[in-house]
Amino acid sequence: MSFPVVRNRRLRGSSALRNLVRENQILVNDVVQPVFVTYGTNIKEEISSMPGVYHFSLDRVEEEIKEITDLGIQAILLFGVPEHKDAQGSSAFDDEGIVQQATRRIKEINPNLLIIADTCLCQFTDTGHCGVIHHHPVTGHADVHNDLSLELLVRTAVSQAKAGADIIAPSNMMDGYVHAIRTGLDEAGYENTPIMAYSVKYASAYYGPFREAAHSTPQFGDRKTYQMDPANSREALREAESDVVEGADFLMVKPALAYMDIIRMLKDNFDLPVVAYNVSAEYAMIKAAAQQGWINEEAIVMETMTGFKRAGADIILTYFAKDIARYLQR
Ligand code: PBG
Ligand code: ZN
Repeated sequence: MSFPVVRNRRLRGSSALRNLVRENQILVNDVVQPVFVTYGTNIKEEISSMPGVYHFSLDRVEEEIKEITDLGIQAILLFGVPEHKDAQGSSAFDDEGIVQQATRRIKEINPNLLIIADTCLCQFTDTGHCGVIHHHPVTGHADVHNDLSLELLVRTAVSQAKAGADIIAPSNMMDGYVHAIRTGLDEAGYENTPIMAYSVKYASAYYGPFREAAHSTPQFGDRKTYQMDPANSREALREAESDVVEGADFLMVKPALAYMDIIRMLKDNFDLPVVAYNVSAEYAMIKAAAQQGWINEEAIVMETMTGFKRAGADIILTYFAKDIARYLQR
């Protein structure tokens, strides 16, 4: 009888041994909690498809910020739901807009909490698209106009930085957006404000619950003329490459779960921090199954997050950030 010489089980024999040889782990420093702010007063309203995630009015945002701070989370991703929508999304770049006001308020509550401002127009346009709509003069075909949208996105980013945002995170998928926003920030004196580029953002069904949360469902058509086709991976290299050349400071992949190969690809090909966005439906699916008692929520969440890290993510944007911080405190 011949026995194995190589025994991989030797390093799995106890929890101390497994801890010693573990390659990847989740730290509270790695996770970012998204926060939704809305107009009105005395609002803390749960988003129905995202249990545990709420809309807060400015007068109630303090409780959320305190909770996040007490859990040791370092950064939030800020989204605003405005009262007023129009063709240009003008409340996105209004210095008194919901995101700008919330940024100033949150900085009063905790000046050390990093505020990452999502820079897009879709919550603010009456069309629900991420830019301004242009109709072709002959065919009448409607599409988002790249360069006209860029001008508005630059104004939005500068206004967010002026309000105190620490990082600008443009999610609009217009061509040349990093260069345009970098130039705009630099000209306004914000040359040290980093850009977290949503470099590889797919046209995904996994954004469904978010669109309910952000009131940003397109009123016609879809986002396929600007967001990437989920079937493509080499195109992700082009998207990331152009963002790097244009001065991005972080590269994001979104969604995360079905796109782990893309996370790894960016990690291997570029040296900027790689961000994984664990999006709304990825959250909703786990929460729903957990509510049914079908899965062990904590174990599933931590295994999923560890998978993102193993794939190459340095930072994880996730609606589970507070839950993860609680798990890690025990
Ligand atoms: C909007 C935006 C979206 C998300 C973040 N910013 C959705 C979209 O493109 O429709 C998705 C976040 C999520 O699903 O959690 N530019
Ligand atoms: Zn958008």
